[in-house]
Amino acid sequence: MISLPLFSTTTWTLIVLALTLLLLCGIWPYNFFKKMGVPGPRPWPFVGTMLHSYAGPLLFERKCKEKYGDVWGQFDGRAPLLMIADPDLLKAVLVKECYSTFTNRRVFAKELFGPLKDGMTMVEDDKWKRIRSTVSPSFTSGRLRQIFPIVERYADRLVKTIDEKLLGQSVDVKKFVASYSMDVMASAAFSVDTDTTNNPESTLSIQLKNLLKFKIWPFFVLFVLPFTVPLFSLIGLSLMNKHSVDFFYKLIKRFKHEHKDDKSVHSDFLQLMIESEIQESDIKDGVEPSKGLTDPEILSQAFIFLFGGYDTTSTTLAYILYSMALNPDVLRTLQHEIDVNFPKDSPVSYEALMNMEYLDNVMSESMRLLPTAPRLERVCKKNIRLNGIDIPKGTVVGAPVNCLHRDPRYWSSPEVFKPERFSKDSGEDINPYAYMPFGLGPRNCVGMRFALMVMKMILVRFLQDHSVETCKDTLVPLEFNMFFIPKNPVKLKFSRREM
Ligand code: HEM
Repeated sequence: MISLPLFSTTTWTLIVLALTLLLLCGIWPYNFFKKMGVPGPRPWPFVGTMLHSYAGPLLFERKCKEKYGDVWGQFDGRAPLLMIADPDLLKAVLVKECYSTFTNRRVFAKELFGPLKDGMTMVEDDKWKRIRSTVSPSFTSGRLRQIFPIVERYADRLVKTIDEKLLGQSVDVKKFVASYSMDVMASAAFSVDTDTTNNPESTLSIQLKNLLKFKIWPFFVLFVLPFTVPLFSLIGLSLMNKHSVDFFYKLIKRFKHEHKDDKSVHSDFLQLMIESEIQESDIKDGVEPSKGLTDPEILSQAFIFLFGGYDTTSTTLAYILYSMALNPDVLRTLQHEIDVNFPKDSPVSYEALMNMEYLDNVMSESMRLLPTAPRLERVCKKNIRLNGIDIPKGTVVGAPVNCLHRDPRYWSSPEVFKPERFSKDSGEDINPYAYMPFGLGPRNCVGMRFALMVMKMILVRFLQDHSVETCKDTLVPLEFNMFFIPKNPVKLKFSRREM
């Protein structure tokens, strides 16, 4: 017989009451979707449906779509998330009702993101509009043309390192392209030559690696127990490596001072932001001016450009190279297009690069099958009825990008890598609301054109003289953790092209 500790009846009553309250707290929000009449998988106390995607988030989303249709409810911890896989509904959320109702993303433990909390990805409503309209001119084609020669120089620098040390080996491709992405971002943002390509062990490179080493457990704890945010704050726990964040914040501050003191003309992103600097006092009683950035906001945007741009570009490039290694016929066709446009050692011009149709198609197709950002999110800021569904204020709405990109209703042979489907005369009608590698609507990726230019440049420079193939360490297919991050590095082999 089990003997229970000898507590008084009152103590036992209190223990049972506390446990019941705890359990109630763990399942309290779970009738949210029942009330809305939206189906979905059964959540577990506290963790919601987060562990359902342990075997692979794509598989989980697919199963949900098959079982519940285009709209279902799932739970990140205790937080409800309304998933929408219907392009018409997504058009309403991401485009038509963006300004009125779905302007913002989920603001999650903002105080734990340090200087990133003023970054464009996190800010809301009028503040977001002001920051976005101030920063957008950084990415006009005029600006991109100014940056173009720098991008070409860094591409050449990276390609040189292949012949020196990487031929015939199993290469971690994300790591390989990361130094190029870093050097390009730092140069375009601050006009500094970080040269991480040739100095992989510099303090800057090491701090950068530390910064991107996310620990998953704090995210998990915060989803399950959101009320622990103040506790995290109190004990100084940040979601990013605090030491590295401080290092980069100080560095960006220094760049800003140097730009202000230096009278020579810079054409970088930081300069444009400095030119539109306003004082905190210009924002009166929360009434936003239409343009301008305060000092902390400038530093936050610089941070977001550097790291947001760096990691997404490296990951996307790694997936494109992987897709080409798995599809040698596509690779050959692309190399032919490159040879025709840019014969060996000839310079690359902005117009010709941006007009390479097959290259564009290959990149689009790779981003369809392996999107870098596999979920978009918006928060509903007022009650709204869409397609007969009443969405209450405060609901987080998610777009399952992977599911949409592989939905046979919108793509022929969706699992096949077929760049031609994106060509103008393919006959395949692409639904623009079923394809969103850079997001959709007014809140889509502000750096898209810049990212495309940077990726096209390195792909052309690399494939003019080199080829890529799978090797013994290449995993097919790639496996992802529950946050859609590959479980293992993408490894490929490089060789020199036979001419
Ligand atoms: C291949 C590389 C990239 C990919 C795949 C990518 C993807 C995305 C996606 C999916 C979003 C969310 C869009 C939405 O919610 O609708 C986004 C937002 C954003 N991206 Fe990118 N991105 C890339 C490169 C860049 C670069 C190079 C920069 C800056 C230099 C940048 C800056 C931003 C910013 C600031 C936002 C937030 C926009 C806003 O809230 O208004 N991205 N990106």
